[in-house]
Amino acid sequence: MDSFMAYQFGLSLGSDFIRNVEKRNWYLENFFGRRPWIYWITEHPRFIEFNAKIGINIVPKWVNKATDDLEAWHIDICDKAEVLVSSNPDVASSDPGNFPAIFATERAQFQKVDGAGWKTMSPGQPYPRRLEIASDMYDHNAAAHETSGDTLTYVYYELSRRLELQAALRAELLTLDPPIAFPSISPTLPDPKTVEKLPLLDAILQETLRRWVAVPGPQFRCTPREGCSLAGHDSIPAGVRVSCLAYSLHRNPDVFPQPLEWKPERWLNANSDQLKEMRHWFWAWGSGGNMCIGSNFAILCKLASEQKCERNRKLRTI
Ligand code: HEM
Repeated sequence: MDSFMAYQFGLSLGSDFIRNVEKRNWYLENFFGRRPWIYWITEHPRFIEFNAKIGINIVPKWVNKATDDLEAWHIDICDKAEVLVSSNPDVASSDPGNFPAIFATERAQFQKVDGAGWKTMSPGQPYPRRLEIASDMYDHNAAAHETSGDTLTYVYYELSRRLELQAALRAELLTLDPPIAFPSISPTLPDPKTVEKLPLLDAILQETLRRWVAVPGPQFRCTPREGCSLAGHDSIPAGVRVSCLAYSLHRNPDVFPQPLEWKPERWLNANSDQLKEMRHWFWAWGSGGNMCIGSNFAILCKLASEQKCERNRKLRTI
């Protein structure tokens, strides 16, 4: 969450949950406490509303309050980012660490689309597109923190059981330029393109995203106006809600033999036909119009985290 929000809102406005335990607990309790009711909130909003009118609260009132509080927190951060960007249009170059990169990018896009109408958008709000941007910012970090956290947790869990693989990964990471070798750690990170090309690191991430897929599904889609055929079923009419589960796709033993085993080697040893098939079935990011927009960022965060971990290990050793 902290890594993502630092990029989204800049260091001064992003969360600092690693150090601010009280705020972290507040966030986690509010965010995850609502989980048992998510099904009702997202699938049956009108039914809930109707019942509430006749005095039956399917969803407890504190759940709505938790949502309101989380939204208010995001809006407050957006308001501060708006002040920062509008009062200092050069903040990206004059104060890069505090540049709210994602907020500013979305704001600029709205400005471009709205043109001269920008200033008159969102009547009753203190600045244009306030609620649209806040809604998107909330969506982005909600999508970012749990998925990335789950994946990293399983990377460390699996690596803790394969010491020889840890050693091989360390050796691979030490080939980077500049090297991440304590105590002469360079303030600049190696070029992401070279990091991306490290085969073992890539295989470890791919296999973790396959075996411990962070979004197991179901991912819903609606069939198109002209109907369609899917997975051997013909003439599915228009407007039917269908779904697919990465959880199931990633357990196809014909493509991923011994699918419950975490084996990064399968990505390293596969021949080109097998690799093609494995990539075809790999669905950790989804696909199409709803595909994850944060996949590149998520991978980069994990690479940075591996590097931090290596540094911490050395510090501990010393
Ligand atoms: C390991 C990390 C992550 C995984 C496994 C993951 C996975 C996914 C999946 C499976 C979807 C649904 C795709 C579909 O329905 O086809 C999704 C959507 C989305 N993800 Fe991620 N994600 C990760 C990290 C992130 C990050 C860091 C961001 C930050 C921007 C992000 C932003 C989003 C957004 C905004 C959507 C909704 C896209 C839309 O409906 O238009 N995700 N993600």
